[in-house]
Amino acid sequence: MSGPSTYEPQTGIERWLDSRLPIARLMWDSFVDFPTPRNLNYWWTFGGILAIFLMIQIITGVVLAMHYTADVSMAFDSVQRIRRDVPFGWLIQSMHANGASFFFLAVYIHMFRGLYYGSYKAPREVLWILGVVIYLLMMATGFLGYVLPWGQMSYWGAMVITNLFGALPVVGEGIREWLWGGFSVGNATLTRFYALHFLLPFVIAGVVILHIWALHVPGNGNPTGVSVKTKKDTLPFHPYYTVKDGFAIVVFLMIFAAFVFYMPDALGHADNYIEANPLVTPSHIVPEWYYLPFYAILRAITFDIGPISAQLGGVLAMFGAIAILFVLPWLDTSPVRSMRYRPVARWFFLIFMVVCLCLGWCGANNPDDPVLGTPLKFVTFAQILTLYYFAYFLVILPVLGFTERPKERPASIEAAVLGNKSATAQPAE
Ligand code: HEM
Repeated sequence: MSGPSTYEPQTGIERWLDSRLPIARLMWDSFVDFPTPRNLNYWWTFGGILAIFLMIQIITGVVLAMHYTADVSMAFDSVQRIRRDVPFGWLIQSMHANGASFFFLAVYIHMFRGLYYGSYKAPREVLWILGVVIYLLMMATGFLGYVLPWGQMSYWGAMVITNLFGALPVVGEGIREWLWGGFSVGNATLTRFYALHFLLPFVIAGVVILHIWALHVPGNGNPTGVSVKTKKDTLPFHPYYTVKDGFAIVVFLMIFAAFVFYMPDALGHADNYIEANPLVTPSHIVPEWYYLPFYAILRAITFDIGPISAQLGGVLAMFGAIAILFVLPWLDTSPVRSMRYRPVARWFFLIFMVVCLCLGWCGANNPDDPVLGTPLKFVTFAQILTLYYFAYFLVILPVLGFTERPKERPASIEAAVLGNKSATAQPAE
């Protein structure tokens, strides 16, 4: 799709390097002259935003590591020292802690974009699967990092999550002790979590490189879902999309800066400003906001399913909710990529988005509390939402592919941009 290379070395040094390591050619063909659909909207800028946030997290993380002490007797105080005494430590720590939230916000927008525009469909299945791998790695990294400041929520969050593995039959106990490095969450747990929290972002960076590679083989999708056919459907990546992405990155960074400078602790939990105490359990153990929907699914399974205990069922449902994303390209049977042209699926997608938000809301609340003063309890609400979550992937998308009558699609990207009303419907791709 990207065609033959258009790179022409200008100087002797460039020619010399090009015949030995054509890295400048790779960069030119990937990020300068790369043919990009001319109709990408702002939802396509979040990949670039994510790349910037990965860099922010790695750079601030490495600086934090220079001052942090991974020992249960000093971890909490070392973070306080970073915030108060280390020059610009307050800035670095605030960027890293809030950066995690913004990284997840961007990744959720990026994923929902993919779900709406069918970015996971052929020929981009591998690109999508690599994305899900990145997402899993991000979840693991975020969890490990949250334990490091050794606050109350760090400790009890680690306790809840590691105990989940204990629910697995036969191997559960062994895995849990292996994760702890002992018989409870303690110093050995903290040091191994620190080592892994330092390592995983570099693994993510490696998978991101594969992700971009897998993107550059078929090329970008686009809001119409209609494939690129001629050169007229595309624009060179630079300057058109470097400027558009750059603008979006600046706007997103401004919102980020508002949190970093004016509300540095708004997204944190009050209990995590209290040092970890194994003898005092917080009244509510809640994870960071970006895990809440999965936390709600975990707690929604309150009943045994045959030989599967409620606790194990919850763990399986929670991991299943992510695992299902791996097979999504084969569950959605519709040949039409973009939901712009899928009038029925679009409504189900909208409900799906609301369901995910409501699951997050359930995750933040006590399961036994009533929903807005109604007789409905949060746990029952979460059960209904969990049912829809799985039905969306396992029933709705597979069935709609056969039953839905898609709307007429533009003949080409060029026709869509120029508003060519005479465009004819496309055969299934
Ligand atoms: C560190 C995290 C990530 C980075 C840096 C990243 C980067 C990018 C970039 C630069 C693009 C091209 C521009 C765009 O479409 O926005 C892209 C496209 C894409 N990403 Fe990601 N991504 C990340 C995570 C994910 C995740 C978690 C998923 C899904 C689970 C995902 C799925 C996709 C898909 C399907 C596309 C192709 C969209 C299309 O062209 O239609 N990505 N990604």
